[in-house]
Amino acid sequence: MTFEYKVADLSLAETGRHELRLAEHEMPGLMALRAEFGDSKPLAGARITGSLHMTVQTAVLIETLTALGAEVRWASCNIFSTQDTAAAAVVVGPNGTPENPQGVPVFAWKGETLEEYWWCTEQILNWGDGQGPNMILDDGGDVTLLVHKGVEFEKAGAVPATTENDSEEYGVILEVLRRSLKDSPERFTKIASEIKGVTEETTTGVHRLYEMYRNGTLLFPAINVNDSVTKSKFDNKYGIRHSLVDGINRGTDVLIGGKVAVVCGYGDVGKGAAESLRGQGARVIVTEIDPICALQAAMDGYQVATLEDVLAQGDFFITTTGNFDVITATHMQGMKDKAVVGNIGHFDNEIDMAGLAKISGITKTEIKPQVHEWTFADGRSIIVLSEGRLLNLGNATGHPSFVMSNSFANQVIAQIEIFTKRDEYETQVYVLPKHLDEKVARLHLDALGVKLTELTKAQAEYIGVHVEGPYKPEHYRY
Ligand code: NAI
Repeated sequence: MTFEYKVADLSLAETGRHELRLAEHEMPGLMALRAEFGDSKPLAGARITGSLHMTVQTAVLIETLTALGAEVRWASCNIFSTQDTAAAAVVVGPNGTPENPQGVPVFAWKGETLEEYWWCTEQILNWGDGQGPNMILDDGGDVTLLVHKGVEFEKAGAVPATTENDSEEYGVILEVLRRSLKDSPERFTKIASEIKGVTEETTTGVHRLYEMYRNGTLLFPAINVNDSVTKSKFDNKYGIRHSLVDGINRGTDVLIGGKVAVVCGYGDVGKGAAESLRGQGARVIVTEIDPICALQAAMDGYQVATLEDVLAQGDFFITTTGNFDVITATHMQGMKDKAVVGNIGHFDNEIDMAGLAKISGITKTEIKPQVHEWTFADGRSIIVLSEGRLLNLGNATGHPSFVMSNSFANQVIAQIEIFTKRDEYETQVYVLPKHLDEKVARLHLDALGVKLTELTKAQAEYIGVHVEGPYKPEHYRY
């Protein structure tokens, strides 16, 4: 197959390569895995289809997977999250030039349309000569969804008609599948039969996997990378603590200190978001539906209220729930003039953007890409970031390298697990064993100058663990 790819501009590769080089220094987990497995190449023979924000950090992940022997095809899992420099560097590769690219096929650029996004997703499933991937690395579950829906409709022999209740995006997916069914009626069935498994990055994708498992529709084993402690308790929290204010600052430059920020949801992402805003001097109000998380927020010193009660107070409204319709069009109409509204959960349906556009007399002004002012008929306006899509990646560059090194070390280990031990996994959703979680943490200690205390044998026996770990029972919550 010829070397196909589609990115914004290969001449950005040199800048991207510098960014990658600096990121490698901040990603000790990935570099340690390269050192450990670079010779044995446990991923030789793996054809990994990856759908995950095409950032600088992801570029280091991709080149780690190839250093371990894998072939890789990549797309972004969001229309706004690609860093075009990183995408170009990956396509050109460490030894290529823009005229003679020798890297990895990437199909991603910042600012895709939905049609382009799903076209890119289709391209990464096409390995030439009718072949598909044998591994998926997913973030939010879009590739996994496409394969599962494809198989479902191939079995049924038809793709259902789009209804008015379907979202615009689902309409695009149905169109892709209609075309595929016409051209190649068993394409997805064949692809699914060759896939050994999927490793899933985020909370929302993991929800989808457990749902498919419960419904009996899951087609291959899955590793839930999100719920490694060294993923969700770090990336979702400390990553957001860094990248939320980064996105707000780059998008708006509105001073956060002294203002009122409303954070919807106090899970891992919400905790990082609230801390991030408080760190800037905002007075943070949290909304929650779960009494445990609401109590945590209160004990952490935040006011906990309903959104309805604080609409007129908030200067910033940030959704972190992974749920839908958390901020409705009616809510937005009740906000104060020039309130900033953004989402940092995985999908754009947390904020009812479709409903906002339908408000009578409303107008939309582009201040700059991914920053829009929506003006109501009475002249008041609100600022919406990244069209309601995750703003830390749309308005800024997502999480920094060091925290992503933790998440992606889990991804690499999970890929090796399923690819090399397929027979040990049923068609279920798994988390990585705790000793591997502890290994990922261990790989990041030196870089921060952490000196770990070692248990004596007697101490280990006293608390019922091994000197070398694991140190906590499965039910421990950190
Ligand atoms: P989580 O499950 O720990 O937290 C979500 C919280 O929202 C829960 O405590 C839940 O009770 C609460 N919630 C649900 N519906 C609500 C409502 N209507 N009003 C108020 N609170 C509500 O999930 P986590 O890990 O915090 O992830 C949240 C979202 O962020 C997911 O979509 C995840 O995929 C995404 N994510 C985004 C990242 C980014 O870089 N932007 C990074 C990591 C995760």
